[in-house]
Amino acid sequence: MNRATQRIWLTGASSGIGQALAIELLQQGHQLALSARRTEPLQALAERFPGQVLIAAGDLTSIEQVRRIGSRISQAWGALDTVILNAGNCEYVEARHFEAAMIERVLRANLLSAAYCIEAALPLLRQGTKPHLVAVGSSVTYLPLPRSAAYGASKAGLRYLMESLRLDLASEGIAVTLVSPGFVDTPLTQKNDFPMPMRWPAARAARLIARRLPRQPYEIAFPLPFICSLRLLGAMPLCLQVAIGKRLARSPAPEEANP
Ligand SMILES: NC(=O)c1ccc[n+]([C@@H]2O[C@H](COP(=O)([O-])OP(=O)(O)OC[C@H]3O[C@@H](n4cnc5c(N)ncnc54)[C@H](OP(=O)(O)O)[C@@H]3O)[C@@H](O)[C@H]2O)c1
Repeated sequence: MNRATQRIWLTGASSGIGQALAIELLQQGHQLALSARRTEPLQALAERFPGQVLIAAGDLTSIEQVRRIGSRISQAWGALDTVILNAGNCEYVEARHFEAAMIERVLRANLLSAAYCIEAALPLLRQGTKPHLVAVGSSVTYLPLPRSAAYGASKAGLRYLMESLRLDLASEGIAVTLVSPGFVDTPLTQKNDFPMPMRWPAARAARLIARRLPRQPYEIAFPLPFICSLRLLGAMPLCLQVAIGKRLARSPAPEEANP
């Protein structure tokens, strides 16, 4: 195999950041196993880049489906050089109608699915060249934000999972990178009805990620001014963070305020 050509498993490739990143990596000539529940967008990529795409569709919240995807990749390639766990979802908490089932759904979509994929991927990475495990977290982990309890908890869990695994996998030569985006314009954020400062187009985010990945950094966080602002706020005394957070929290809608 040409050293420059990698065997990459990318999840969440049917839209947004994952789809844009798939295009970047395919244009660089890599072989990609693409996962998502919707197959049509994956099929479209396979047709646009003939011979480069292995369609590995499935629901990543199901450990059985993830294991089947792992077997499919193993049969086709026998190894993986890079795994990019990007699939994810977001739901916002309404504290007045707090629902534990929603927390469970979001943790399953963003954290447990990643654990299932890592279980399937590690044996293949151990057979790969310069193996690299990558997960897309979120800049939300720098600072608690209102209504983000479910999403933030899932991404904070993912951060710890990756940062701890980094220590354990180092002796096997497997590098670990966490990607921490600010706001990116995708179907996920197009549903948001609040201001999203410094929002990047998905193609720009994908270009930056693809450019930085070969160096296998610990973290790829962007856009820089947004990340610096969050980190600055995160370093402030807790009482100030809470005061700012409370101002960002929404006042209840009139019907909620007067049930
Ligand atoms: N956009 C942002 O501002 C932003 C900021 C920080 C972090 N992120 C993170 O970036 C990642 C990509 O998000 P995005 O903004 O590009 O959103 P998106 O356009 O909604 O893409 C999400 C991708 O994940 C896949 N996915 C979701 N649940 C899945 C499941 N159960 N099984 C398999 N695939 C699943 C979706 O495919 P199917 O629906 O076809 O299954 C889709 O391809 C997420 O982890 C998100 O948390 C995004």
